[in-house]
Amino acid sequence: MRNISEDTITQAVLASMDGCGDKRLHRIMTSLVQHLHAFARDVELTEQEWFHAIQFLTDVGHITDDKRQEFVLLSDTLGLSMLVTTQNNRKPAVCTEATVLGPFFVDGAPLFENGADLSNGAPGSPCFVSGRVRGVDGEPVVGAWVDVWQSDEDGYYDVQKVTDAVGDMTHSARGKVCTQADGSFHFRSILAEAYPIPYDGPVGRMLDALGRHPWRPAHLHFWIKAQGYEPLITHVFRAGDQYLDSDSVFGVRSKLIVEWVGHEPGIAPDGTPMDIPFHTLDYDFVLNPTGSDA
Ligand code: BEZ
Ligand code: FE
Repeated sequence: MRNISEDTITQAVLASMDGCGDKRLHRIMTSLVQHLHAFARDVELTEQEWFHAIQFLTDVGHITDDKRQEFVLLSDTLGLSMLVTTQNNRKPAVCTEATVLGPFFVDGAPLFENGADLSNGAPGSPCFVSGRVRGVDGEPVVGAWVDVWQSDEDGYYDVQKVTDAVGDMTHSARGKVCTQADGSFHFRSILAEAYPIPYDGPVGRMLDALGRHPWRPAHLHFWIKAQGYEPLITHVFRAGDQYLDSDSVFGVRSKLIVEWVGHEPGIAPDGTPMDIPFHTLDYDFVLNPTGSDA
């Protein structure tokens, strides 16, 4: 393989992978090389621009650690995460749509009884959340685990905050509740507020250079798992938020937008006397049964 030219380099790279025994890897790498080369030709990439891109990816790697996943942020802000989510979650229209997982999910969040306060001291105005989990025929889904996580009123998730002396994180504004016989669940937490994704790194600089902002509209994250149904990873977005039409990670779907209802001091839905204003949110989820090919 010698004297490879501008015109023959793509074919040479593709041929170099002929010995790949993994069909899927071969297909992915073939397409990747074709698209990368086509891209470089299309924009007539300069050496300086190539080096700049390498430097950018190096910076993305350097800032990434177990608390900060800049590669996920890059994928999210380029719309790749939502594209992959959408094309892997095609389901009947009656089902709740999926959105990006995001970088702030924590496996092993604490379990709570229905009605518990998940906020665990996270700063924010009180909010009482209720909902039901159903199947496509309206049947209640009993025993579904509803894993919920959200940022506080300052725009931070617990994982972004300082850990204790031994490096352990204190869970707050996150937890799991289990659906009851009628498919319902409820818990207390705090009011979701809009917040910017972390923008003090290379992805933030990229957004800035592109004239984009880093904000996400106020939302609650849900990951619902139930036997016999496909898992659902989604958000519920707060109606009226100024960033609904410019979410920095392209995750908003109209059917996921809902009114958080404001209340003056009084009795909360779970009977708690409240001497400060509070909000309520009620939202129902519809799961797709496993094995459905819609
Ligand atoms: C989030 O909503 O938690 C999130 C999603 C994508 C990027 C950053 C944050
Ligand atoms: Fe979020």
